[in-house]
Amino acid sequence: MNHATPSGYGPCIRMTAGDASALAELESCCFALPWTQEAFAEALTGLTFSAFGIRDEAAGGLAAYIGVYHTPDEVEILNIAVRADRRRRGYGRLLMAAALRDAAETGILRAVLEVRTSNAPAIALYESFGFEKAGRRRGYYHDTGEDALIYVLDLTVPRLSFNPDSGRKPCEPSSPPTGK
Ligand SMILES: CC(C)(COP(=O)(O)OP(=O)(O)OC[C@H]1O[C@@H](n2cnc3c(N)ncnc32)[C@H](O)[C@@H]1OP(=O)(O)O)[C@@H](O)C(=O)NCCC(=O)NCCS
Repeated sequence: MNHATPSGYGPCIRMTAGDASALAELESCCFALPWTQEAFAEALTGLTFSAFGIRDEAAGGLAAYIGVYHTPDEVEILNIAVRADRRRRGYGRLLMAAALRDAAETGILRAVLEVRTSNAPAIALYESFGFEKAGRRRGYYHDTGEDALIYVLDLTVPRLSFNPDSGRKPCEPSSPPTGK
């Protein structure tokens, strides 16, 4: 499996179709309606989906990932997930920074995402990157009937937060990710 790691992206590794099984396993730990291995394999062989992950051997392999869909102008953050026992170590911040930098470097102008109104940790993460609330979809989530908040971020504005080294807090996991 070839894991190209963009320079300056810290421990974030670009995921390939060969990671589909690990990604599906991580999803099933984090979401009620997880993406399947087949869905990841298909998405990762296409041109419009990309994902970064962080490996942490103390977590038994893949500890976190972010998946995005992109058009020429816009990147949509589809999902970001960190294994429960690996949260609050800066992995979410590193992954978001990697995905946004990757998008900005390929000329994408805007990032968008949807989030459940109750998801305070995710909302705090997004707002710390400068995402701004742009709308609401009423009853968007079928399982709970919860609304979705729509957040957008202008990628044409240079931001220090895209650089993991300039973030508010360095990533200092108790067991360093191997980056393998
Ligand atoms: C949201 C999520 C990805 C954050 O990942 P994480 O690795 O724990 O986040 P980080 O350690 O990088 O934290 C970055 C910032 O996010 C915010 N944040 C993260 N967890 C938080 C929490 N539990 N409460 C409040 N703010 C939180 C903070 O602003 C934090 O910055 P700080 O540590 O300087 O205060 C993680 O909680 C998760 O996987 N949740 C389940 C899946 C999910 O809901 N995904 C989003 C929907 S698509």
